[in-house]
Amino acid sequence: MPTPTGAEPRLLAARGAAAVLDRGEALDLALEPGLAALNQSRDRALARRLAHAVLRDWPAVNGLVGRLLQRKPARRDRLVHFILGVALAELREAREPARAVVHAAVEAARAAGLTHLAGLVNAVLRNYQRNTAALTAALPDDPVHRYGYPGWLIARIQSDWPEAWEDVLAAGNRPPPLWLRVNRRYWSREQARRSLADAGFPTTIPDGVGDALVLDQRVAIGRLPGFADGGLSVQDGAAQLSAAYLQIEDGMRVLDACSAPGGKAAHLLEQARLDLTALELDGPRLARTAETLDRLKLSARLVQGDAVDPGSWWDGRRFDRILIDAPCSATGVIRRHPDIRWLRRSGDVGALAEQQGRMLDALWPLLRPGGILVYVTCSILKAENVVQASRFLELHCDARAIEHPELPGRAQDCGRQILPGEAGMDGFYFAAFERLCSPG
Ligand SMILES: C[S@@+](CC[C@H](N)C(=O)[O-])C[C@H]1O[C@@H](n2cnc3c(N)ncnc32)[C@H](O)[C@@H]1O
Repeated sequence: MPTPTGAEPRLLAARGAAAVLDRGEALDLALEPGLAALNQSRDRALARRLAHAVLRDWPAVNGLVGRLLQRKPARRDRLVHFILGVALAELREAREPARAVVHAAVEAARAAGLTHLAGLVNAVLRNYQRNTAALTAALPDDPVHRYGYPGWLIARIQSDWPEAWEDVLAAGNRPPPLWLRVNRRYWSREQARRSLADAGFPTTIPDGVGDALVLDQRVAIGRLPGFADGGLSVQDGAAQLSAAYLQIEDGMRVLDACSAPGGKAAHLLEQARLDLTALELDGPRLARTAETLDRLKLSARLVQGDAVDPGSWWDGRRFDRILIDAPCSATGVIRRHPDIRWLRRSGDVGALAEQQGRMLDALWPLLRPGGILVYVTCSILKAENVVQASRFLELHCDARAIEHPELPGRAQDCGRQILPGEAGMDGFYFAAFERLCSPG
């Protein structure tokens, strides 16, 4: 029987944080079963919001818990650390009355079977309330505690974006706006906008993203007119730019080399009648591409295979367009997935860059002369972006970079970078290459 204290969502948020921080699991997957067990959509939203809040503020709340607890809890009681962390993150947000937050945390401890620690939770949080100013002042005054990211990642972002690093870190702590993609096959953007406004959901037309609308308020997506019939999808504005870079036309043979869960493939198929191959390494993820296309009544050739090993799946016919939406650090989408900052390790970036480079080199020969390959990441780290694209250009004398000054983002030596929050978008990098008929 759920209690009215809000203990369950808070306990779920604490379990989610423990899964990320102690076991290195992805937050969405860790929360999934618990969310399914919560009946109220309000509780599900609260659990998600608090899990995000504690991960965004982890260095500070972890420091506070450490100071406030006189002794480290026993191993089997470790969850109490995260129950306290969630409560402190919530108290620091100051959105709810403090009494309710403390009460809910005490009940969360009981609901977790930690009844013997309920008094301790109460005492620790009351102590925090009495001494908030002094405890907060005692936290280290450094970017790790101010912005809530690991030091190695802050150092990389500082080095790559010396003039913008603080904006980047701050943007990663702000929840993103809700971007929609209008299915051109179903209706025009104007029709969609009118229908949404009539149903009480006003939207804004963003600059430079042809199929996008931005909702002025957060809403359960299923309530939007046209959504159930495939007229609308949720997709960030930056992700929608891949289609503009590819310059597709009806009848083209297109490879989406890293397709799951199918957002960009669907967008391309909404824009033109294509012979599209949706490749994906991971079988269960390829099934998600299939689901996305089914919902929108679109079709593609779905292939499970390794983009780095075309010999194992390619039929030998070249493509007019290739999209490589490469696996990357995902440092451009930290505002959606705050767990990424804790799940990535500094060594991951080099390994990812190596894999991206191999993918580019392996797929380039599959492009017909005159065709276009677009390389995309949702990363803000130069090693995965401009450095990668420049290396590719140097290596392939039959490649020419196509610049797109009309599209949003910061021009790089090669390609364009959108930093998180710029024009309301996620952080994305794009580079487009034409294959020359004779090497330049
Ligand atoms: C950034 S996601 C793609 C997102 C997708 N394009 C969309 O818009 O919905 C990268 C995908 O590449 C897949 N992937 C990773 N390595 C791969 C490989 N060697 N060959 C093909 N796909 C790969 C991952 O499983 C993941 O689904």
